Amino acid sequence: MKYILSPSILAADFARLGADTAEAVKGGAEWLHIDVMDGMFVPNISLGIPVIKSLRAASDAFFDVHLMIDRPERYTKAFLSAGADLICVHYEATEDFETIAKDVHEAGKLFAIALKPATPAGVLKPYLHLCDMVLVMTVEPGFGGQKFMADMMQKVEALSKMRDEMSLTYHIQVDGGINLENVGVATDAGANVIVAGSAVFTPGKTEENACSFIKKFKTI
Ligand code: DX5
Ligand code: ZN
Repeated sequence: MKYILSPSILAADFARLGADTAEAVKGGAEWLHIDVMDGMFVPNISLGIPVIKSLRAASDAFFDVHLMIDRPERYTKAFLSAGADLICVHYEATEDFETIAKDVHEAGKLFAIALKPATPAGVLKPYLHLCDMVLVMTVEPGFGGQKFMADMMQKVEALSKMRDEMSLTYHIQVDGGINLENVGVATDAGANVIVAGSAVFTPGKTEENACSFIKKFKTI
């Protein structure tokens, strides 16, 4: 299995976003996880389209955009134009998965659906054929630095099983509270795209932290 590290820029220093993300990429991160929050779907506001556009001009990394916003179909095209390579919307935030997937795929980009901790894996069954990735949240969305919910691994296992049964190929991403100690639990369950925020972005240690994840992947 190929593992991908997607450092969550929510934990970066926004005053030096270009430099911080470049360090993570230098350490071996292929993706950058970009958390967009609207203060409605989650009780926090983070960053939006202009920041992604600026970062796009400064980075060649794959932009994994996690939209924690209500009715994301309103903004799909704007995020694609800003430079998103993958658009991930929450199951709980919309019913318009077909339209969003169509917009994303027509732009030649990847589409994903995320599940909050209380949402069971089975609800995705009618939409899995549209998905290039499924995101299993391992914390309540809204804030970085929370504790990893190991009981979400049942959901990762269920999604991995459904992928086999339905002959699909989507990635399984985990997001929230992941560090070098618990990442093996997530990969054992079947996750292959690993988001880590606070475990990657540390002043002066970001490149080294990313590199430690990449080294760890080689041992799993
Ligand atoms: C939470 C975000 C996560 C978060 C991860 O709402 O979706 O991506 O930034 O950060 P850590 O790894 O610190 O939990
Ligand atoms: Zn996220």
